[in-house]
Amino acid sequence: MSGARGQFSSKTGFVMAAAGSAVGLGNIWGFPTQTASNGGAAFVMVYFILAFLLAYPALMAELIIGRHANANVVSALSGLGRKPLTRFIGAGVGYYGIIVASLILSFYTIVAGWMIAYLGEPVTAVLGAEEAGTWLTTDSVTRNLIFGSGFAFLTMWIIGSGIENGIERWSTRLMPVLIGLLLCLIVYVLTQDGAMEGLKVYLLPDLSRVTDPKLIIDALGQAFFSLSLGVGTMLVYGSYLSKEESLPRLGAIVTFVDCGIAFTAGLLIIPAIYVAQHNGLTIYNDAGELIAGPSLIFQVLPSLFDSMGAAGTFVGFAFFALMSIAALTSSISMLEVPVSMTVEKTKLNRKQSTYLIGLTIFAISTTIIFNFDLLFTFVIDFTTKYSEPLLGVMLCIFAGWVMHRDKLLAEVSAGHPDIENSFFWKIWPTYVRFVCPVLILITFSQSMAG
Ligand code: TRP
Repeated sequence: MSGARGQFSSKTGFVMAAAGSAVGLGNIWGFPTQTASNGGAAFVMVYFILAFLLAYPALMAELIIGRHANANVVSALSGLGRKPLTRFIGAGVGYYGIIVASLILSFYTIVAGWMIAYLGEPVTAVLGAEEAGTWLTTDSVTRNLIFGSGFAFLTMWIIGSGIENGIERWSTRLMPVLIGLLLCLIVYVLTQDGAMEGLKVYLLPDLSRVTDPKLIIDALGQAFFSLSLGVGTMLVYGSYLSKEESLPRLGAIVTFVDCGIAFTAGLLIIPAIYVAQHNGLTIYNDAGELIAGPSLIFQVLPSLFDSMGAAGTFVGFAFFALMSIAALTSSISMLEVPVSMTVEKTKLNRKQSTYLIGLTIFAISTTIIFNFDLLFTFVIDFTTKYSEPLLGVMLCIFAGWVMHRDKLLAEVSAGHPDIENSFFWKIWPTYVRFVCPVLILITFSQSMAG
């Protein structure tokens, strides 16, 4: 093992980093579009309930295991076992998490590259370089390689700089910018004609849909992805947290911020879709469903910005800046999962580990770019639909069944001395042992069957 492990310098530093990880394309793109295709406010309600009832306890499992072990995901999980078999399974789950985190990063990098390309488009418009603008917004292997690699290097540069000087510093700088941009965009979009109709769809629930299985499955998957759960991201961030902080409280703040920003992003995206309709753009596909996939972000919204005249250039720039920042504070948290293990298990230092792993993951992105139709959706489904819920169950089992109850209590008590008599400690241990694994498995099997 080379050198001492880093640490977050403060509570705010941790909250910014963990919220930065959680708040990503999943919040600004995934949440509003899932809401739009699942009956508006009914989805929002179910999402919030599941986020606090299932995702928060699972987040706590990761934070507690991480801070207790003070190590990367593989060492942490194998270290919990008292028998060789549980140690072996722990290491296996850890490696599986590392592979899934790396694969999530490989497709996330491609999508983030698109965001950066679109960020450049308004700049070319101002400069009068129209051809360049068309190139930036037209799908091509060359464009995807250039901007994907740019984003990958940015991620590597931050992770190579360490916990405090990289992750914490950049999350603390970028998160306020993200919130500022989001709020400015909302204020602007809500003043446009058509916005109020979108706001109604977003805020008035169609209660008949609350029990729809598809809605529930989508909401749970979205909550897990949004809180970066399952692959060890939060476990590793927890391992950089001082014993003086209260884990249940910080976990609740992170869940709250994540839900709050997802909700706020809905106030932007859904009204924007209806403003686009008001301006004569098509917002439904041939099947009569609201356009939600890449064409929403890369066609409907850019056409909306175009229809806004001169202001549209700034709005478009601000929007893609928002997306790029959201992506960056999340991608660094994915890269930290394999890098922390490499630093702790090999003789390589942080910079060497970062570039070795970062370039390997970019090689996977490149493979996906060259075989896009074959691999892109496959990798997304394999990681987010199948692997994350299963890993989530395993992490709950490790916290609930493998980690000794005394150790759990000791860990949550550090930074929160009166925890033993709290509501949290009365229900959480039973929750991670039974309720979370069973409910996640039920939802998972439903989604397999559907
Ligand atoms: N939570 C981020 C989002 O909403 C994505 C993310 C970051 C993530 N780290 C992760 C997802 C780890 C799964 C696992 O976009």
